[in-house]
Amino acid sequence: MNKENQERLNIYIEKVQERAQNFLGYPVSIDFDYSELYPLLKYPLNNLGDPLIESTYDLNSRSIEREVVQFFADLFKAPKDNYWGYVTNGGSEGNLYGLYLARELYPKGIVYYSEHTHYCINKNIHLLNMPSIVIRSQENGEMDYQDLKEALHLQRQHPAIIITNIGTTMTEAKDDISKIKKVLKESAIRSHYIHADGALAGTYLALFEKEPRFDFEQGIDSIAISGHKFIGSPIPCGVVIVKKNYRDRIGQTIPYIGTLDTTITGSRNGHSPVFLWHAINKLGREGLKARALKCFEVAEYALEEMKKLGIKAWKNPNAITVIFPKPAEEICVKWQLASDGEFSHIICMPGVTKEKIDEFLKDL
Ligand SMILES: Cc1ncc(COP(=O)(O)O)c(C=O)c1O
Repeated sequence: MNKENQERLNIYIEKVQERAQNFLGYPVSIDFDYSELYPLLKYPLNNLGDPLIESTYDLNSRSIEREVVQFFADLFKAPKDNYWGYVTNGGSEGNLYGLYLARELYPKGIVYYSEHTHYCINKNIHLLNMPSIVIRSQENGEMDYQDLKEALHLQRQHPAIIITNIGTTMTEAKDDISKIKKVLKESAIRSHYIHADGALAGTYLALFEKEPRFDFEQGIDSIAISGHKFIGSPIPCGVVIVKKNYRDRIGQTIPYIGTLDTTITGSRNGHSPVFLWHAINKLGREGLKARALKCFEVAEYALEEMKKLGIKAWKNPNAITVIFPKPAEEICVKWQLASDGEFSHIICMPGVTKEKIDEFLKDL
């Protein structure tokens, strides 16, 4: 590399290091250490095609990916003999996959999702050309079940495809699957599909098996999470878990890769599964739980300290997101706060300490 480019690179690296110090507004972990995996960065790992079926492209991490999928299938209580999944490029792709399967199962289905749902759902629905209805949210960001009931009643002849939030983007609100199932039953809608968008909170909430549950035993048909959020990864990634018999409806054999084409993209990042596998195995379920408990503790601390300062802050139960009135622009820029109208939030992800919160509060 010439001197000029080396300098540019150095400046860029310094900027990244500096910006990583004040990162409170977006849900990514910054505390991981994957240095043991650096030798793999020399290789073009590609898991193209189906993770369960070997491919003629042998520079891959399929066997590791399968272990990651199994971990999440167990975590979300997927049926032991009827689950399938893969490591995606992120929660958005997992949500696209859930919607894609739902459309293949129910071509005449209507998608219902609440107004606080992540923007990728609206985009994915548009890509798949599916009819949809937006349901009102309650003040805390959770779906308004009465509004869902009224919407379903008007469309009872159509199968219902319901996108549930296990942690909305702005307020980390969770939709209650048991209440949704009750509404479906009362509306006499037998053909339905429930997808859980657990991008942020799906992983850590499932570890504690608290009510309200949102797993396959509770009635979901698919779930997507982001891997770079709670677990942490230098490359955005995610996991989608579905029922295998649904996936079987869409696979096509492709002789060129010697496997089934069942995923959204052809080439698939082979490094991300190794990052997730490393974290899951290093920490184990207990380590992941301890990691989550630390986040809850820091979030409680942030909330209490804000209240002491007279700031009208609040958070949902079992959440690590604290919402408060939008502060001055320079604070939003410095701490990379995400805002929606009059409100901003901080997310107490792994790596965010009480000392960091104190520093932020001093600015606030
Ligand atoms: C609720 C929710 N769903 C989906 C996504 C998209 O996930 P990703 O950025 O991994 O594609 C996000 C991202 O913040 C989210 O908060």
